[in-house]
Amino acid sequence: MMLALKIIPFVLVKLKKTVPNSLSYVLTITFSILLLSACSGESDVENQATKQQSSKGELKSTSFDKSLYLFTESDIRFLQRFSLSQLGPPPDSISNKFANDEQAAMLGKKLFFDVGLSRDKKTSCATCHAPELYFTDGLKLSKAAGVTARSAPTVLGAAYSPWQFWDGRKDSLWSQALGPIEDANEMNTTRVEYVRLLLTKYAAEYQAVFKEKLSDEVVREKLSLLPASASPLGTEEEKILWHQISEPVQVWVNQTFSNAGKAMMAYQRRLELPRSRFDQFVDILSQAELSQAKLNQAELNQAELSQADQSGSLTALTEVLTPEEVTGLRLFVGKANCASCHNGPLLTNFEFHNIGAPDRPGLDVELGRYSGVKALVEDEFTCLSRWSDAPPDACEEMRFLKKSGPELVGALKTPTLRNIAMTAPYMQTGQFDNLRQVLIHYNQPTPPVYNREQHPSRPHFDILPLKLTEQEMQALESFLKTLTSPLPKKDHWWGLEPFNSES
Ligand code: HEC
Ligand code: HEC
Repeated sequence: MMLALKIIPFVLVKLKKTVPNSLSYVLTITFSILLLSACSGESDVENQATKQQSSKGELKSTSFDKSLYLFTESDIRFLQRFSLSQLGPPPDSISNKFANDEQAAMLGKKLFFDVGLSRDKKTSCATCHAPELYFTDGLKLSKAAGVTARSAPTVLGAAYSPWQFWDGRKDSLWSQALGPIEDANEMNTTRVEYVRLLLTKYAAEYQAVFKEKLSDEVVREKLSLLPASASPLGTEEEKILWHQISEPVQVWVNQTFSNAGKAMMAYQRRLELPRSRFDQFVDILSQAELSQAKLNQAELNQAELSQADQSGSLTALTEVLTPEEVTGLRLFVGKANCASCHNGPLLTNFEFHNIGAPDRPGLDVELGRYSGVKALVEDEFTCLSRWSDAPPDACEEMRFLKKSGPELVGALKTPTLRNIAMTAPYMQTGQFDNLRQVLIHYNQPTPPVYNREQHPSRPHFDILPLKLTEQEMQALESFLKTLTSPLPKKDHWWGLEPFNSES
């Protein structure tokens, strides 16, 4: 999706041309107040610090241009699409019929946090997706049993994405969850070990959700037929053991294993984002829309204008975002073009792009979606697989998959920018330590160099140098920091409350 709109400040000069005298009178007064407070010796920085506390109805601002806070009706409508207020529930899942089941989500939460399900009994999903770090781990390359090849993205908002992982090699959250369980660098176990633990430790919860109608005795008997450890993705020995298991029992193991993924998916779908300062800003703008629209029509009399101001627009807006942050917002959706990929309430289009972040020395060249789509086609747990709950003619996303083309080479899934200031380091292998480094890259990217023999088709490169000034870079960075949601200490699903395994 491309941005057709530019956010244009509603400038005073324009106002003056059309408005009745009463309006310019009010504006003059307001500006005099602004000027006065500017002269009273308060610095901008102090003002920004006290802005949150300053009482309503009192414009506690200084030398900035107030027109920065005035947006046209169409600008406001455009910005509304970025607010969490516009984010409904995650899209329906056709491949997981338990996606919205609350009991499944409760079981999923236990599985997500249980280190006892890993081989070393030290690793859970939360090891690398820790709620206090907005479900990331703060590392360049995640590690548990070993060091992984990539950095852990947040799972917040992942329920809205058709693809999982940086290269989109999974097509659902339930299928994704099965990856780390068997990954030698992560939970390092096998599906047989996992299923045995699941059906022993969580027998009652599992049966309550998935209603297998197998007596405990039958389950015990089935488990007793299984080797200690086996998987088609395991070591050579584990693979041999897997192939020795009879087909019906393999099917049962895979079904149970998939159900664990479906429970963890149901859990992750419950994770909600509290509103950030940016969302508050857009929501105030939306509420004030009428008054601002009237401003546009220049039909306000003096009483109406002061009412418009009091009803929130300007004063409240200045209390929520500083002028620098608003400047950054305007750059984000305008000149800096970030919103062409980072759009919608989660600030991502969930599509794949090559922005040429430098490869980490020592790691393989990043092929991104190019290799991700190949892995996806071969994956045994997709929407099209027998473990999926989708009807045979469904799964359009998998049926109309783009499988080749230079634009896939080095293309990675646009990540969410929600809580971005809290989830350093950045990019798929943590190449950038901080937001400043990210912005320097966007400002002057170095297109990646590929081995042409390996990749004859020239990779597609998706960004252009921005040539922003130092001040603009600073403003953009400040804006990104307004996207942080407060940690919801009491939200049961986040699990930030002292974890109670019985709850
Ligand atoms: C050792 C650390 C580690 C563990 C343990 C781990 N993850 Fe991850 N997770 C990662 C890394 C690294 C990635 C990105 C890998 C990639 O894209 O190649 C990732 C990606 C994801 C994603 C994709 C998000 C997106 O936007 O694409 C989800 C969802 C996720 N993990 C959930 C889980 C669940 C559920 C578990 C437990 C079953 C789990 N993770 C266990 C490190 C870990
Ligand atoms: C062409 C699409 C596109 C545009 C335009 C774009 N981004 Fe990105 N952004 C991406 C992709 C894809 C990634 C992941 C790339 C990677 O990991 O190598 C990313 C990663 C990021 C990250 C790191 C996220 C993380 O969790 O590691 C930040 C921060 C970011 N972008 C901010 C911005 C800003 C600010 C702008 C505007 C100056 C911008 N982006 C413009 C697609 C885009």
